[in-house]
Amino acid sequence: MKKSVAIEIQDFEALIEKDCFYIDKTDFIREWWEANDSVTLITRPRRFGKTLNMSMLKRFFSIKYAQKGDVFQGLSIWNEENKGNTC
Ligand SMILES: Nc1ncnc2c1ncn2[C@@H]1O[C@H](COP(=O)(O)OP(=O)(O)O)[C@@H](O)[C@H]1O
Ligand SMILES: [Mg+2]
Repeated sequence: MKKSVAIEIQDFEALIEKDCFYIDKTDFIREWWEANDSVTLITRPRRFGKTLNMSMLKRFFSIKYAQKGDVFQGLSIWNEENKGNTC
């Protein structure tokens, strides 16, 4: 089925669950974590996906969703996490 383009969806989980077209930026989670910076300044124009990215980080790190990792299934960060697993 053809994916629809998310218009004004700033919630990562909603975008994935609605199966909207998504440019996979989940590797940002790894890059940001490995940079280990105490402060991160994101300077991008509006509609560049800043809010969606923040929602993605919240979804990834919040303990509230600890048992619900499946929203990242098949995305770059998921493959990274499961690289060493053989089963
Ligand atoms: N990686 C992405 N893949 C697909 N659509 C995206 C992506 N990032 C943002 N969008 C869409 O682009 C629009 C603007 O994103 P938003 O996060 O609100 O940008 P910003 O906060 O930088 O202004 C939203 O409708 C959002 O659904
Ligand atoms: Mg925004």
